Amino acid sequence: MCGIIGVVQKRGDVAPFLHQALKRLEYRGYDSVGVTTIADGRLHIKKEKGKIEEVHRKLNLDEMPGSMGIGHTRWATHGIPSMLNSHPHFDCSGKIAVVHNGVIDNFMELRAELREKGHKLQSETDTEVIPHLIEDFMRDGMDLVHAVRETTKRIQGTYAIVAMSTNAEENYLVCTRDGNPLVIGRKKDVSYVSSDIPAFLPMTNDMILLLDGEIASLSADGIKIEKISDESEVHRDSIRISWTADQAQKSGYPHFMLKEIHEQPDAIRNTLRLRSEVIREAAEIINSSERIFMLAMGTSGHAARAGRHMFSSIAGILPVFELASDFSDTVYGALSDKDCIIAITQSGETTDTISAVKYAKEHGAKIIAITNVVGSSITRLADHTILTQAGPEIGVAATKTFMVQLTSLALLALSVGELTGFADSRVIKTKREFLEKLPDIISDTISRNEEPARRLAGQIYDKPSLLFLGRGVSMATAEEGALKLKEIAYNHAEAYSAGESKHGPIALVQNDYPVIFVVPNDETRSRMIGNIMEMKARGALVISVISKDDKELESLSNHIFTIPWDIEPEFSTMAFIIPLQLFSYYMALRKGYDPDKPRNLAKSVTVL
Ligand code: G6P
Repeated sequence: MCGIIGVVQKRGDVAPFLHQALKRLEYRGYDSVGVTTIADGRLHIKKEKGKIEEVHRKLNLDEMPGSMGIGHTRWATHGIPSMLNSHPHFDCSGKIAVVHNGVIDNFMELRAELREKGHKLQSETDTEVIPHLIEDFMRDGMDLVHAVRETTKRIQGTYAIVAMSTNAEENYLVCTRDGNPLVIGRKKDVSYVSSDIPAFLPMTNDMILLLDGEIASLSADGIKIEKISDESEVHRDSIRISWTADQAQKSGYPHFMLKEIHEQPDAIRNTLRLRSEVIREAAEIINSSERIFMLAMGTSGHAARAGRHMFSSIAGILPVFELASDFSDTVYGALSDKDCIIAITQSGETTDTISAVKYAKEHGAKIIAITNVVGSSITRLADHTILTQAGPEIGVAATKTFMVQLTSLALLALSVGELTGFADSRVIKTKREFLEKLPDIISDTISRNEEPARRLAGQIYDKPSLLFLGRGVSMATAEEGALKLKEIAYNHAEAYSAGESKHGPIALVQNDYPVIFVVPNDETRSRMIGNIMEMKARGALVISVISKDDKELESLSNHIFTIPWDIEPEFSTMAFIIPLQLFSYYMALRKGYDPDKPRNLAKSVTVL
C-alpha cells in the first residue's frame, strides 16, 4: 500500500532506475506516481495521477537530471487521486521533498498549527505536514537527520518516510519508519531504500532491514542507522534474498497473475522442501497450547479456513478462525500464555494482522507466523516463523502465495497429527505421499482447465452476479473463488455454505443465474447434489468443479471443470481453486480489465 523508493549514487542520473523500480512496486498502489530528483541545487519534479506507464507517456519519467532522487506510487487514503495529492510532497521553500507510506493520525491538528504559522499547504493529504515540519526544524538550524528525527516526535500514526533536501552540502537521503516497511540496499557507490525488496532486486540481493524507531542516512558512500530515542548507532548485517530479478518479471506471460498461477507447482515443490524441524517446532507450540487461533485477512483468511479442516481431520484439533481485524473486538482480552496464534500473511505487513498479533502478544499468547517475506514485520513479532517459498508475487490478486500457505498448513497439520496421535500413522504416510504428488496434480489441473475457463468466461462475462457454493473445506474454496472474481472482474460474487443457501440466497436465483458448485468426491458430495437439484429446479445455470470421471455430476451441470487426480479430502482446496483462479483471470480479460492491477486494491494493506 503505497510504494516508496529512494536512491543516491556517485554519478549518473537516477531517473531511469526510479521509473523501473516504481514499476516493480506498482502492486502496492497505482492511483498516482511521482518522482523528484536533485540537480544543480534544486528539486526537479514530475508527478501525476494514473498508472506509471500512463504518466510516463505524458511526462517522460526517464528524463530528469540528478544522481539522487525519490519516487512514490500511491494508494489513496487522504485525498482523491490527483496531481496535487501525488507524492512527493514539499515544504514552502520547495527545498525539501518527502515520500510517505502510512497514515498520520494527527494530521488535522498539525495542518492547523502549520497554517497558523504561515505555512502554505497545497494538498488534501496527511503526508504534506511532514515536509513542513521538517522545514521548521531546519529553519531552527538542524540538519536533515535531526529535523526528521524531531518530526517523528510530532507525528502520530504509522509511517515509512524518505526525505531529501537541497540544503545539504552533499547528497544524502534520510529515512525512518514506524509500522510500515522499509528495506535498504547497498552496492558500490549506490544506496537504495524501498518499501519492498523487488524494487532494487535487479541491483542487489542483499538487504538491510530498518526497524521501527530507527533512522538511517544514506549516501553514495554508505549508510548509517541510528536509534531515534538515544542516537546510538545500530550495526546490522545484511540478509541475502534468494529471490531473483527474473522471478519479478512477466517472463513472456501477458500478466503476472497468469504467470503466478502457472508457478504454483514450483512454489509447492519449494515449500515442501522446508526443513522438517521448522514445521516440527511450530507443531510443538500448537500441541502444547490450550487454545489455537488462526488470524488473517483476505486470501490468507481463506487459507486459514481451509487449514482448520486439515487440523481437525488430521490432528483432532479445531483452531478458531477470526479475521485479524476483528480479533481484539471479539476476545476482549481473554487470552493467556496457554494460547497460540497462527498468523497467516503473505506480505508479513498487513496492518490488521500485525495489530492483532501485537495485541495477542501483549496478552501472553505465543505467535506462529506463516509468511512469504523474509524479514517482514510479522517475522520480528513471531516466536516462530514458517517462511513459505512462493518467490515474489506481483499480481495483486494472490494465487501462488495462497497455494504455499495451504501447503505449509498441510505440513503443519500432519506434524501436529503425529504429536497428537489422532490419525493413524498409515493415514499420515498416505497424506504425506499425496503432498509429494501435488506439484504434478496442480500442473495437470492447470493444463486441463485453462481452455474451459477461457470458454466459460466468454459465455457468461456479462452476468452481473454469481453464487459460489460449497460445504466443509470446500466452503473455503468457494470463498476464495468468489473473492478472486470480485477482486479482478468486478462481478458481484458471493460464497455461501450450500446448506445455508436455502435460507436466503436461493431467492436470487432465476433463469440462467450462474451458481458455481465446488464438489470434490468427499462426504459432502451427496448433499451437494441435493443443493444442485434445488438450484436447477429454479432455473440456475449450474457450473460445477468436480472430480474426474464424476459422470453423475457432469450430467447435472451445464458447465464443468474437472480435477484430473484423486484428491485427499482435507487438501481439496489446493486443486479445486485452480479452475476458479483461471476463470476469474479470463473473466477480467474478457471484460477488458487488467487483472494485475484491480481498481481500489493494493497487495499489501498497511492501514487499519
Ligand atoms: C490485500 C490483498 C489480498 C491479500 C490481503 C491480505 O487485500 O489484495 O490479496 O490476501 O491483503 O494480505 P496478506 O499479505 O496479509 O496475506
